[in-house]
Amino acid sequence: AHLVAKRVRQRANWSRALAIYHDFRDGCATPLHRLRQVVDAMVVEMHAGLALEGGSKLKMLLSYVDNLPTGEENGLFYALDLGGTNFRVLRVQLAGTEGRILQQEYEEVSIPQALMVGSNEELFDFIVAELASFITREGEGFHPLLGRQRELGFTFSFPVKQTSIDSGNLLKWTKGFAIKETVGKDVVEELQAAMGRHKLDMRVTALVNDTVGTLAGGRYWNEDVMVAVILGTGSNACYVERADAIPKWRGVLPKSGSTVINMEWGSFWSSHLPRTPVDDTLDADSLNPGDQVGFEKLISGMYLGDIVRRILLKMAEEAALFGNTVPSNLFIPFILRTPDVSAMHADESADLKEVTRVLRVVFKTQASLRVRKIVVDVCDTVAGRAARLVAAGVVGILKKIGRDTVGNIDMARLKNNLAGKGRKTVVAMDGGLYEHYPKFRTYLNDTAVELLGKEAAEQVAVELSKDGSGIGAALLAASHSQYSSD
Ligand code: GLC
Repeated sequence: AHLVAKRVRQRANWSRALAIYHDFRDGCATPLHRLRQVVDAMVVEMHAGLALEGGSKLKMLLSYVDNLPTGEENGLFYALDLGGTNFRVLRVQLAGTEGRILQQEYEEVSIPQALMVGSNEELFDFIVAELASFITREGEGFHPLLGRQRELGFTFSFPVKQTSIDSGNLLKWTKGFAIKETVGKDVVEELQAAMGRHKLDMRVTALVNDTVGTLAGGRYWNEDVMVAVILGTGSNACYVERADAIPKWRGVLPKSGSTVINMEWGSFWSSHLPRTPVDDTLDADSLNPGDQVGFEKLISGMYLGDIVRRILLKMAEEAALFGNTVPSNLFIPFILRTPDVSAMHADESADLKEVTRVLRVVFKTQASLRVRKIVVDVCDTVAGRAARLVAAGVVGILKKIGRDTVGNIDMARLKNNLAGKGRKTVVAMDGGLYEHYPKFRTYLNDTAVELLGKEAAEQVAVELSKDGSGIGAALLAASHSQYSSD
């Protein structure tokens, strides 16, 4: 303690601070040859995960979504979207190919932190209470003409082992959630039970991961969508796979010939991933040590800010980056949020005003311009690594489905209705990291071009599919409705 106190009492030790930063930066390096190894590792793990249950850290979960929206969906449907910082309820009135989405209302509430680590019943009661009050506020909810039970798509953004389109057991919680009792349970049953407690006469007809919802929502508007990626609190991807390329598939192959695979790429692991000691301590201190270490904790919005905080703390403690005393807020986990990282990273003012603001508001400290520049460099390193890894992941998927090279579109895929038209391969993206973090987006797009080459990259389009996961779930609820569409 004596030593530490003495060390922090001095003024910023520049050479030490730079050495710490450079070490960190080197550990985060993602040169192209390394990213290519990540691409190949992704392809290998995808094969392994499809080959047999538990064959890889990459779970490659079956979604039971064997058909994607066509535009013909019809009727009034609800969706619940649970999985990030916010919880969303929505209602859409679908009117077939002509009218498409006639009307749409939604509501978003943030989930109280306590509920994420509380009891199973409390969480589901909260969700259903919100749903019930939404229905009351928005009107009766019965189809005015049909007067039948309401149907709902449930977007549940955690790893679930599905047993059908409308049932599945939670494998584990991720992100900020940790409720032991729910693990292993059928989350649709839990939701239906809570609806029963609230006397809500509704029925879940589709249970989907947010990536799958995003894919469905994207496909509704664009036939060429083959892949969906979430870059939000957590990170994950799904894509359309040929059923005969899934050795672990049991039972009759779907008529469409294809199905959607929820990769759960957050738990992707490869020794080629650039990791640093800061990543190890972040994992060790997390709610789920040892889980989601490969991709999610290096990439997603929940963790980026905390990686930045941890490296700044190290420089503050060991090189007096913020002067004599270490600002106490620097010790608080998750206090630095990704939007603030984005704001600092985007700061192009000569005196780095945004950085000054964030340091003042979040860490209650101030720093010289030289220090503020280092802070920006740290943001750049952390976000750059994340964005480049996402690009490698996406290219891995494209490679697996044979769409990573010019003119290499697998013609067999074009024969089934899930395959798109094949002119282009569209990746539907959603999540704050893509939507609200311009530098992240630029790094991601540029790296994809670097990896694919300019010509092949022209056949691929990444498109923002804002809040597609809720709409997608409603669309899938419609196509799996118990009532014939009329
Ligand atoms: C986490 C979840 C995954 C979800 C992703 C994005 O990785 O495990 O199911 O899709 O976050 O929300």
